[in-house]
Amino acid sequence: MTTDNSPAATPHDLLGGAPVFAAIANRFYDLMERDPAYAELRAMHAEDLGPMRESLPRFLAGWAGGPRDWFEANPGKCMMSLHKNFPIDRATAMQWAEAMARAVADVAPEPANVAQAMTDALTRMARSMAKPG
Ligand code: HEM
Repeated sequence: MTTDNSPAATPHDLLGGAPVFAAIANRFYDLMERDPAYAELRAMHAEDLGPMRESLPRFLAGWAGGPRDWFEANPGKCMMSLHKNFPIDRATAMQWAEAMARAVADVAPEPANVAQAMTDALTRMARSMAKPG
């Protein structure tokens, strides 16, 4: 039996590191752009999703235990506060969560427990950004 006692086995590394996080974000924004199910979510974003294709994977990488350059470039910036002025309702929050769940399933389905934990945590985060009502 082999065991991996490496303390550096973060979710970021287990899922495949920077290229995989970039691919998850690109798949997420491709879905947002192409699938009419996410039309409301798409409409809330700027015409050019290029900056988001850069910024989201860097945030997710740091959040998942990888390189923290997004956090270093944005000291003290809180993801919840950053979204509090956007008109996010339950439907748009669930569009975000569903598109992200599909992106993770398409691009990084293994290890399944890590992919599922990441999807669950991001779903909770998206849901908590929705305004009540
Ligand atoms: C709940 C549904 C969500 C909606 C409707 C939403 C919408 C938006 C919008 C409109 C922007 C501004 C970008 C633009 O105008 O193109 C933005 C920025 C951003 N969002 Fe979200 N978002 C949601 C959830 C999330 C979640 C759960 C995360 C992280 C896990 C996230 C990460 C980001 C990041 C990293 C930025 C860019 C911030 C920066 O680098 O300044 N969003 N979001």
